[in-house]
Amino acid sequence: MSTNVMQKPPAFPIPAGVFAQTVTSVEHFTDRLFKFRVTRPASFRFRSGEFVMIGLPNAEKPVFRAYSIASPNWDEEIEFYSIKVPGGPLTEHLQKIAVGDTVLMRKKPTGTLVNDALLPGKRLWMFSTGTGIAPFASLIRDPDTYEKFDEVILTHTCRDLAELTYGQQLVAATKQDPLVGEVARGLRLYSTTTRETSPQMGRITDLMASGKVFADLDVTPITPEVDRAMICGSMDMLRDTRAMLEGFGLTEGANNRPDTFVVERAFVD
Ligand code: A2P
Repeated sequence: MSTNVMQKPPAFPIPAGVFAQTVTSVEHFTDRLFKFRVTRPASFRFRSGEFVMIGLPNAEKPVFRAYSIASPNWDEEIEFYSIKVPGGPLTEHLQKIAVGDTVLMRKKPTGTLVNDALLPGKRLWMFSTGTGIAPFASLIRDPDTYEKFDEVILTHTCRDLAELTYGQQLVAATKQDPLVGEVARGLRLYSTTTRETSPQMGRITDLMASGKVFADLDVTPITPEVDRAMICGSMDMLRDTRAMLEGFGLTEGANNRPDTFVVERAFVD
């Protein structure tokens, strides 16, 4: 698909040292959320779960923001999942992109939500709110995740039901995927809302504190012997979820010091 898309001429010259990629698809989920895919530069390598700086060629000095790559490292395109912030320096323009437009990408991906930053374990928890699901969209489509962990539980909490659509479609598609569907059989999605009535409600921190999430999923509460975790959401969500995991005895790790959980901020706000 990507090879057939014609790139429209950008409004401003492309700055030196960045990739200029062509938008291949755009899908809007709500008035706050959309995903888009761009062509992948042949030389661009990344680890599933990493982020990269992106911008638009709409000024002499474009604004760049960190975006988690939502596609796995074997994908021939790059996917991003974005919020639309009214008046946001990048997202105000980014939300209007169309197939054929140019997106700028800095060349070096980085990040801590990578399998290498965790010790091996039985069960991997991925805790996300809002667009914080993006790095997990990459990791749940990477067969390496299932080689390292027997069970993978993705939790996604949003204000309302419409905001859960991306995650629900993603998990359904992953289970049907010819490359990872078979190994992803142990993947489970636990979606909750906080501001609209739905079958599962509440902040994930409250659901852990009450034990409801463990009862709902029929798993033992989190312990450092069995469980590993990754967290991605707002600053407040990171702080509270981190405290919760530390209460269960888990310890934060990093690329050079793997441990039982890792944290990454969902950057764009
Ligand atoms: P709430 O509706 O109770 O604020 P947002 O769209 O503002 O980024 O929020 C995404 C989701 O994250 C919402 O469901 C929100 O719940 C939840 N959330 C916000 N702060 C926290 C927190 N400190 N811990 C856990 N969940 C949070």
